[in-house]
Amino acid sequence: VLSSQQKDILFKVTGCNYVTRPIRCVLNSPYRTITGECNNREHPHFGVANHAYARWLPAEYEDGISLPRGLIEGQLYHGHPLPLVRKVSNEIITTSNENVTADQERSLAFMHWGQWIDHDLDLAHESPTNIENKKVECDTSCNYVPPCFPIKIPPGDSRIVTPGICMPFVRTAAVCNPKTFVREQLNSITSFLDASAVYGSEEPLARSLRNQSNSLGLMAINQNFTDAGLALLPFENNSNSLCLHTNKTAKIPCFKA
Ligand SMILES: *[C@@H]1O[C@H](CO)[C@@H](O)[C@H](O)[C@H]1NC(C)=O
Ligand SMILES: *[C@@H]1O[C@H](CO)[C@@H](O)[C@H](O)[C@H]1NC(C)=O
Ligand SMILES: *[C@@H]1O[C@H](CO)[C@@H](O)[C@H](O)[C@H]1NC(C)=O
Ligand SMILES: *[C@@H]1O[C@H](CO)[C@@H](O)[C@H](O)[C@H]1NC(C)=O
Ligand SMILES: *[C@@H]1O[C@H](CO)[C@@H](O)[C@H](O)[C@H]1NC(C)=O
Repeated sequence: VLSSQQKDILFKVTGCNYVTRPIRCVLNSPYRTITGECNNREHPHFGVANHAYARWLPAEYEDGISLPRGLIEGQLYHGHPLPLVRKVSNEIITTSNENVTADQERSLAFMHWGQWIDHDLDLAHESPTNIENKKVECDTSCNYVPPCFPIKIPPGDSRIVTPGICMPFVRTAAVCNPKTFVREQLNSITSFLDASAVYGSEEPLARSLRNQSNSLGLMAINQNFTDAGLALLPFENNSNSLCLHTNKTAKIPCFKA
């Protein structure tokens, strides 16, 4: 039905051409790439930013393709309905608010270091909630309206007692999967431990994080503020920067790195 020109356009706007394009490696380059391409010489797309996550097990969706399990109420699996995910999590670990005590051996830096490492390996972006100028409110609605898949609270929950509320949850963005068409999720950064959060995972971002005014290859520094004479990270150049909302009068954007 479609002309090859129309197919080309579709291929581009869906990002399919990006994930399926052949990657040519510069075999004698002394440098690793920002996108992670060619880190694995035999499989140049392994660990590359903006590609699907690897799977250890095949996906299991309610409809076999895309709908999350547990979506259809009353659906039976091996004769039983699926328990609410919040109930499963409560059964595995429940902590009442008053019994939380400070760890005697590790500081908070332990947790932050672990999270920092994790944030160097994977970053899943949410699906857009603003499609065709119609905004879906995943923060306030308890209904399944894609891409919102709110987490329901079981009766008797030890910490969430307000009736009729749920935990907001937005499904992550899907990536083109021309092989099986089963929904796959996408990693926006390289899966390598290569300080993606410092240097970026895409060429334009990586370039913008460098000082382009000379050839020293230094990182760019904040042009507005210093901290007791020491450099700060550059600001994000984005009028929608989240940090702008934390104090409307201060007008301080988030750091870019
Ligand atoms: C808190 O811990 C104490 C001592 O282990 C226990 O007796 C008590 O039941 C706990 N409180 C709650 C609400 O779980
Ligand atoms: C680039 O380096 C120069 C010289 O050190 C410095 O004055 C300037 O602030 C730097 N610019 C950025 C964007 O980091
Ligand atoms: C910020 O973005 C605007 C619009 O995209 C661009 O014109 C400007 O050069 C950018 N400024 C910096 C410092 O990157
Ligand atoms: C917001 O920023 C203004 C101007 O920098 C400052 O005076 C004010 O204390 C800030 N408000 C808060 C709540 O931090
Ligand atoms: C930083 O400095 C630039 C150029 O003077 C200015 O346009 C920008 O608003 C400043 N940003 C902040 C957050 O102060």
